[in-house]
Amino acid sequence: MILKLAATIVLAASMIRAADDGGVSRTQRECAACHPAQAKPHPVTSMAHAMELVPECRILKQHPLMRFTEGKYSYTIERKGDQSVYSISDGKEARSYPIGWAFGQGLAGQTYVFESNGTFFQTRVSYYQSIDGLDLTLGASNIKPADIDEAIGIRMAPQEAPQCFNCHATNSVEAKKLVTGKLIAGLQCERCHGSAENHLKGIKEGNPGLAAMPKLSSFSTEQTSAFCGQCHRTWEEIAASGQMGVVNVRFQPYRLTTSKCYDTDDLRISCTACHNPHQEIDRTAKDYDSKCQACHGGGKRAAMACKVSTRNCVTCHMPKVEIPGSHHQFFDHEIRIVKTNEYPH
Ligand code: HEC
Ligand code: HEC
Ligand code: HEC
Ligand code: HEC
Ligand code: HEC
Ligand code: HEC
Ligand code: HEC
Repeated sequence: MILKLAATIVLAASMIRAADDGGVSRTQRECAACHPAQAKPHPVTSMAHAMELVPECRILKQHPLMRFTEGKYSYTIERKGDQSVYSISDGKEARSYPIGWAFGQGLAGQTYVFESNGTFFQTRVSYYQSIDGLDLTLGASNIKPADIDEAIGIRMAPQEAPQCFNCHATNSVEAKKLVTGKLIAGLQCERCHGSAENHLKGIKEGNPGLAAMPKLSSFSTEQTSAFCGQCHRTWEEIAASGQMGVVNVRFQPYRLTTSKCYDTDDLRISCTACHNPHQEIDRTAKDYDSKCQACHGGGKRAAMACKVSTRNCVTCHMPKVEIPGSHHQFFDHEIRIVKTNEYPH
């Protein structure tokens, strides 16, 4: 139901076209007049930068030449004006492609996507912030290419490219097909809330029916898990995929659902109880104490309190875990008493 709603939202959102203006889209500026609490902090969030276009891409601008070698294959990403070119050589032959889109802001990695003869590819190498350079793209490290054409990158199946764009950009998919012409890089208001065209029109005309937006703020905990899970992956999706153990720590809705703290009907454990999707993530551990203590210690319907500490709960109960090959640590959302190197799910 929620996923269907999201699909309709995407279709509706594709009606709007907004030019990008220093990271703030036209619609976002329009929203700011009446919703400053959401629109002001949003442009600097990770989600607003889940994709960047090559001319504006910070990492590509700051790294005019990047190199990486694996066996006989050497890779370069080189800045040329406001474009960046991805090249590979095996010593005998060479291939070059202009990069189309930069995926991710680089905390866990930035992967480049390009199109060649109607097929979309992920580059075989990605930028990683922790090494400030290139390494193999997560998922490419187990593949041994037979020749230069296989070493270029990871070829996307036709149904894969629209999914990839739909999780990282706004207005990129129409009727399950990838439409790059109206794309706005990153996750802007309309990607989560749906088209705001009627909303703006309805407010202007004083027509509350036309102005109504889907009310994400009245979602239950389970609905929010499914909503965020359309991109961060749901419990069902990961359970069905059979990805067990440390590799699934990056899928927060899955991990949280497996925690004893989770209750589908209790808003105190909803994603949005701890994260405001309009603001950059809060990285101060003690700021989450009150979220835990809403249930642990004192008050009605209280769960038991901790005998070990009254502060910085997440540092012990949501430990940081490095996912092999990702060069990045994720916080394990399976909140629990942690025993060393134990990932029961
Ligand atoms: C002229 C003022 C105005 C502008 C501009 C405006 N809104 Fe609104 N918006 C409102 C008002 C008033 C409400 C409350 C209406 C209601 O609840 O029926 C509202 C409600 C909403 C809600 C529903 C909140 C909830 O309860 O869950 C969302 C989402 C929303 N607006 C998004 C946007 C977005 C996105 C934009 C920019 C494209 C935008 N608005 C532009 C005035 C505005
Ligand atoms: C349309 C897809 C999509 C939806 C829906 C979505 N996210 Fe995200 N989110 C992303 C992507 C992609 C990133 C990674 C951005 C990056 O770093 O490049 C991200 C990043 C984040 C981050 C920041 C991670 C970091 O380390 O900086 C948080 C927190 C987050 N999302 C929480 C949420 C919550 C909570 C919800 C639901 C209210 C949600 N997201 C819904 C796609 C989505
Ligand atoms: C189902 C939605 C979904 C799909 C499909 C998807 N991503 Fe993501 N991607 C996310 C979310 C959510 C995150 C943030 C959490 C994480 O890092 O796992 C993310 C993170 C990333 C990151 C790391 C971001 C950072 O800041 O470090 C890169 C790079 C990336 N995705 C590239 C891609 C590429 C390329 C594709 C297509 C081949 C793709 N993604 C498909 C949802 C998706
Ligand atoms: C990643 C998804 C996502 C993006 C992007 C996003 N929102 Fe939201 N928004 C939500 C969710 C989920 C809620 C309900 C939970 C909450 O209130 O925090 C919400 C709630 C709201 C509300 C209602 C707040 C309330 O207290 O009832 C408004 C207004 C709003 N958003 C406007 C915007 C505007 C304007 C933008 C663009 C600048 C935007 N949102 C971008 C997911 C998103
Ligand atoms: C009880 C509080 C809490 C709840 C509920 C919660 N988170 Fe988190 N989340 C955190 C903390 C703490 C961090 C680490 C913040 C930091 O970087 O210091 C985090 C980090 C993240 C990140 C950054 C990547 C990572 O894993 O480190 C994403 C994305 C995220 N949460 C998404 C979600 C989603 C989606 C949900 C709902 C399924 C959710 N969170 C529910 C507390 C919570
Ligand atoms: C919605 C209420 C709620 C929230 C919010 C919540 N918890 Fe819990 N938590 C519970 C309940 C209820 C249990 C007991 C489950 C049981 O005994 O079956 C529990 C169990 C635990 C346990 C013991 C689990 C085990 O492995 O035996 C720890 C540790 C814990 N919570 C820590 C935290 C921390 C840290 C936070 C904040 C990041 C948090 N909880 C947030 C309700 C909550
Ligand atoms: C220094 C690490 C550390 C910090 C910080 C910490 N805890 Fe704990 N917590 C533990 C350990 C270890 C246990 C297991 C104790 C035992 O089995 O005797 C535990 C047990 C628990 C339990 C289970 C209690 C029971 O009786 O079974 C809960 C609930 C809990 N912690 C919640 C919290 C909350 C909420 C916070 C923040 C206010 C917090 N913890 C801070 C290490 C910590």
